[in-house]
Amino acid sequence: MSSFNLRYQNYLSTFEEYLKGYLDKLNTRPTVLGESMKYSLMNGGKRIRPVLALAVADTLSLDKAEILPFALALEMIHAYSLVHDDLPAMDKDDFRRGKPSCHKAFGEANAILAGDGLLNEAYALCFQESMKGEKYALASKVLNECAGVYGMIAGQSADMQFSQSEKEITEDELSYIYEHKTGKLLLAPVVIAGILSGDKYYLSLERFGKLLGRLFQMTDDILDVTGSFDELGKSIGKDEVENKLTCVRLYGLEGAKIRADMCASDCHAVLEGVEGDTSFLHDLVDFVRTRSK
Ligand code: IPE
Ligand code: IPE
Ligand code: MG
Ligand code: MG
Ligand code: MG
Repeated sequence: MSSFNLRYQNYLSTFEEYLKGYLDKLNTRPTVLGESMKYSLMNGGKRIRPVLALAVADTLSLDKAEILPFALALEMIHAYSLVHDDLPAMDKDDFRRGKPSCHKAFGEANAILAGDGLLNEAYALCFQESMKGEKYALASKVLNECAGVYGMIAGQSADMQFSQSEKEITEDELSYIYEHKTGKLLLAPVVIAGILSGDKYYLSLERFGKLLGRLFQMTDDILDVTGSFDELGKSIGKDEVENKLTCVRLYGLEGAKIRADMCASDCHAVLEGVEGDTSFLHDLVDFVRTRSK
């Protein structure tokens, strides 16, 4: 196993262990609420956001116990965003991570409530952390901003609005979607690690988080055209069917790949402004650029 894969697996197992501790205590009435939440949190995601949070924490010599509650809250928000994203009223996706999406497995009403439940539990964790002091409250505030109506939700709203429009798409609209629907939830772990470690390299980290988020959605759009269901675990070719505003639609497949390469180079360049061991973060950029799932 390469040293990158080894470190990814290490971060993953640290996170999974922490998540298990939370899930063991999740006990809802009716049970279907907890079951549908667990289904959406446990069904084989890459966990790139928590891994990123732990990796940046390492670079900044921040104790992982400090970042783990935020990594979990973030993954819960990510999971809820996908449950709602797959609903028939949004992207109409029947598969997620190779399994029936939450609304296919539990029905639409339960999927909506599973999403609501995950979001509320995420903030319950943040409230608990906030009581520890100001920087934890600030980290919680950042997560809320990244996830909320000036963050991911705004991006999802723009994604839906622009995909219903017949007019020519612009680069500005695409950038807005990228920055918000995906970018904010990849920016959050980086910035939160920065805040918890006393604002070390804050500006470079913020720039890095933004660029990585952009790269992540570019590769998601590209994989929707070039990927396979077996590897991605979700239906492909659906962006065109749903008339989505993607980098492939704006620049063509080759143009999109060139821009993704440029964005990856920018990610590497920005990391030069961060001291400490950034080797894993450099490798993570290449992983995001070349991923097949
Ligand atoms: C999918 O995110 C949604 C996007 C923001 C493109 P991921 O590709 O991180 O999903 P999982 O959690 O690994 O399945
Ligand atoms: C989803 O973007 C982004 C969020 C859920 C916030 P997509 O709709 O492109 O993600 P996939 O392709 O369904 O995973
Ligand atoms: Mg979508
Ligand atoms: Mg979708
Ligand atoms: Mg997509």
